[in-house]
Amino acid sequence: MLTNDQLSAWDRAHFMHPSTHLAQFARGEAANRIIAGGSGVYVEDRDGTKLLDGFAGLYCVNAGYGRAEIIDAIAEQAQTLAYYHAYVGHGTEASITLAKMIVDRAPEGMSHVYYGLSGSDANETNIKLVWYYNNTLGRPKKKKIISRWRGYHGSGLMTGSLTGLHMFHKQFDLPLPYIKHTEAPYYYHRPEAGMSEAEFSTWCAEQLDALIQAEGPETVAAFIGEPALGTGGLVPPPEGYWAAIQAVLDKYEILLIADEVVTGFGRLGSMFGADHYGMRPDIITIAKGLTSAYAPLSGSIVSDTVYDVLMQGTDTIGPFGHGWTYSAHPIGAAAGIANLKLIDELGLVDNAGSVGAYLKEGLTAALGKHPNVGEVRGEGLLCAVELVEDRAERRFFDPAKKVGPSTVGAMLKHGVIARAMPQGDIIGLAPPLCLTKPEADTIIEATRSAVEDVLGRG
Ligand SMILES: Cc1ncc(COP(=O)(O)O)c(C=O)c1O
Repeated sequence: MLTNDQLSAWDRAHFMHPSTHLAQFARGEAANRIIAGGSGVYVEDRDGTKLLDGFAGLYCVNAGYGRAEIIDAIAEQAQTLAYYHAYVGHGTEASITLAKMIVDRAPEGMSHVYYGLSGSDANETNIKLVWYYNNTLGRPKKKKIISRWRGYHGSGLMTGSLTGLHMFHKQFDLPLPYIKHTEAPYYYHRPEAGMSEAEFSTWCAEQLDALIQAEGPETVAAFIGEPALGTGGLVPPPEGYWAAIQAVLDKYEILLIADEVVTGFGRLGSMFGADHYGMRPDIITIAKGLTSAYAPLSGSIVSDTVYDVLMQGTDTIGPFGHGWTYSAHPIGAAAGIANLKLIDELGLVDNAGSVGAYLKEGLTAALGKHPNVGEVRGEGLLCAVELVEDRAERRFFDPAKKVGPSTVGAMLKHGVIARAMPQGDIIGLAPPLCLTKPEADTIIEATRSAVEDVLGRG
């Protein structure tokens, strides 16, 4: 619903929104929705409409809205010390304590945290860590980073290059040199219908091996991947995928960066996706769920073996000259401490596993046989319903028909926010990790109703 009051007018006149059709927005053809409050899994807009937030903002408000424990921790930190920097050995009680809490929860072998503000800047840091690492080891040519098509790793110049989605590349002359892309681990979109999951995983690993060979293994430094694909479609990896990829990386001494901006701190029903899938990362990217987005904070968790080389580098090639003013911001760190404690106290990681399984089962029961539902998939509280024109032939809709966005629009009328994922007609669901089974029922019912509103009963 478009409103025409002062705030709306200022919004259209002065606020440049991310990932928004600027011209339509300015002309008033695209809705502006002003969110005014939130509690638990619900948000409320300025007109008083209450909506179940089935995407936890941008899959980040993992603890849910309005958590007094996190709010109070932020207020207290602001009173005591609103800011101090982390350069040349400075720290605060909050930033140091949080580093210890992160490493305690991280997969085995991880030892240090470098803080940033966003997932994008953390991945930017990761590229510099990898380059510094290889410069220290006397391998100046080993600099390329391989990412996957449909991966999402941020919106900067290098991180937007890592991202494997066309809308992040085309209009910005990306990807930049040094960044290469390999196959997406997206079984539903496999090239040959007859391939088993295990065969598809082997094929993905072979494609990666061929790319490394073509580029020259001595030029390839790292491989980056989300444990389960996020923005590219919300896709858990096919059977055997990470073991097959890991074997290729080991063969050529290529580091593994696990981008856990979405999966870190519980979304898949495990503390980290790397543990969930048996990955052996050298660096892990964290953000969103670290503070449940109550304050901006991200991090790069570095393994002890990589850290040893970085230390050696500061002795031999010169200081690690890299930093952000707001790195380790104490308010973000205080939010992170309170959030991680709350995740433990409320058992949100286990809840994501059990309610996530319930949500997927419910969606499958409600929609699994609909002729326009190609696949219902998910792991923990990361679920997707993929819509297709012809289920039997795996034929996709013409993107111009905007079936995914229309269905997500229809869900709003049934009281639930979902996200229309890019490059496909994919209804994305990633609610707060405190979701209850009755709230999952609300999501299931809204999804079923919206699919039937747009595509009929089938
Ligand atoms: C896996 C992943 N990495 C990195 C990012 C970038 O994070 P930010 O938007 O905080 O820069 C995102 C954002 O959605 C993400 O999903």
